[in-house]
Amino acid sequence: MMRTTTLNKLDFVIVREQDVVPFRNKVKEEAVKIGMGILNQTKLITAASELVRNLLKYGGGGTVEIESVTNGRENGILLRFSDKGPGIKDIDLAMKDGYSTGKSLGLGLPGTKRLVNEFDIKSAEGEGTTVTIIKWKNG
Ligand SMILES: Nc1ncnc2c1ncn2[C@@H]1O[C@H](COP(=O)(O)OP(=O)(O)OP(=O)(O)O)[C@@H](O)[C@H]1O
Ligand SMILES: [Mg+2]
Repeated sequence: MMRTTTLNKLDFVIVREQDVVPFRNKVKEEAVKIGMGILNQTKLITAASELVRNLLKYGGGGTVEIESVTNGRENGILLRFSDKGPGIKDIDLAMKDGYSTGKSLGLGLPGTKRLVNEFDIKSAEGEGTTVTIIKWKNG
């Protein structure tokens, strides 16, 4: 993950389905604030929706940090999803198109990676999962 400076930071607690819409609205609000265009906003919000769904479904809920960041040249939105769920045994496998333990499409993680500019996943079995993404304003 690229080094960034944080300009503004918000924490969101996600424990139930009803927490998702306000979270998504806040991501959009922060993207609009930095002047991100509609196409990149849509990519960011789609990625955020997938990751928040995983956080709820597999992680049992958790927190999301929404940050406005800069790398010195460009501004962007960083989202960090953290849960203390069961973790992921094989991250390489989880990142493959079509892999799901939840009888779903298995496109959430690999699709998310393709929609953003930076993608980092850390997970330890029994300890939880942290996924960090960045979408640059013009990325
Ligand atoms: N936060 C998490 N904690 C534990 N396991 C996770 C977490 N996120 C993803 N996984 C595991 O990685 C797998 C792949 O996730 P991915 O989002 O790509 O697919 P999915 O959620 O199963 O299906 P889809 O997102 O297409 O509905 C999941 O089936 C699950 O086993
Ligand atoms: Mg998913």
